[in-house]
Amino acid sequence: MSGIDSVTIKLGTASYPVIIGAGVLADERVWVSRLNADGVLIVSNSTIAPLYLARLQSVLEKLNIPHQLCILPDGEQYKTLTTWQQIIDALLNMRANRKTTVIALGGGVIGDIAGFAAACYMRGIRVIQVPTTLLAQVDAAVGGKTGVNMPVGKNLVGAFHQPALVVADIDTLSSLPEREFRAGIAEVIKYGLIMDAGFFDWLQNNTDAILTKDAAALHYMVATSVAHKASVVSADAHEQGQRALLNFGHTFGHALETLTNYSKWLHGEAVAIGMLLACAYGEKTGRTAPEVTAKLNQLLGKIQFDISIPEDITAQNMIETMRSDKKASYAGLDLILLESIGAAVISRGHRPELLLKDFPMEYLG
Ligand code: NAD
Ligand code: GLY
Repeated sequence: MSGIDSVTIKLGTASYPVIIGAGVLADERVWVSRLNADGVLIVSNSTIAPLYLARLQSVLEKLNIPHQLCILPDGEQYKTLTTWQQIIDALLNMRANRKTTVIALGGGVIGDIAGFAAACYMRGIRVIQVPTTLLAQVDAAVGGKTGVNMPVGKNLVGAFHQPALVVADIDTLSSLPEREFRAGIAEVIKYGLIMDAGFFDWLQNNTDAILTKDAAALHYMVATSVAHKASVVSADAHEQGQRALLNFGHTFGHALETLTNYSKWLHGEAVAIGMLLACAYGEKTGRTAPEVTAKLNQLLGKIQFDISIPEDITAQNMIETMRSDKKASYAGLDLILLESIGAAVISRGHRPELLLKDFPMEYLG
């Protein structure tokens, strides 16, 4: 696959395209009919702006679109109401109106804060997502979840606010730190595991091309992932049902992140181990077909994920932490489990004592 792909998120009058390709960020054909002269606020951070801001600005200048900048510091610790306020202040200062567009240029952190500011300013103005990390291209920028972190937990305040357009330029992945790139692959593998066995096989057979950032392989990988996310979000934008399948591996992964105070793993790395634990638990309880865990383990090994868990993390404290997850209820935990590769289900009511009995201890340190 090469050139430019367009995947539509089908939400009636709120439908929007995700444009995927090498160089699309600076391609005015992508932008020309989708911006108006009422102005743009570009939100980015101090790492990404020096790399990619000029490309975006040159397009806006060619199209005669006036724009202002809001450049935030880099880091998850800045995904707060304070930086959200900075974006709101920038919109107020430029006298933004309801036709102003916010463009979020960056990874999931920038996309989430800028999207949330756009959701709130004048009760909602347009946001265009320009994701520059693999994780944001295949997941965070698509689907309209926006928000900020609170001192007591991640993403606790936010809104569903669908973008008007997503521009995923795979060229931007070339400057992404290697560790961030690999972490993003976990979310890609997730689509194979929950809904596309053929894609999982493709990932197994193309790890070299992916890791050397072969352009055609990256394009196919991003476009296929976005198509899967599109089908889920189009059917269940507000996570009343099937969208929960996208949380596969996340309940175990969030517990790992929480227990290490978000300092040991990047989110995608924790999700990779979380998916492995979910597969192993599924196999132990007879819900998941044999060999699924071994196949995932093999793929994670090829991508060079470190799946070791520190010794001080026990099954007991994992389960205790999982019980405080948003998806826990009195009846027990709801978990996303696989029946087989390509087929995920929502499995309800996992009581702590049963979870402990069948916890895959062999993965603990
Ligand atoms: P991130 O936004 O922090 O980016 C990772 C790092 O890479 C940052 O230092 C960033 O400045 C840098 N970077 C970004 N693009 C670059 C590039 N092209 N070249 C060089 N450096 C670059 O992290 P992320 O993994 O993209 O996103 C994580 C965030 O996304 C979390 O806050 C998470 O909660 C959120 N998220 C949201 C959704 C959603 O549906 N809204 C889904 C998943 C994750
Ligand atoms: N990242 C999970 C979702 O968008 O629902």
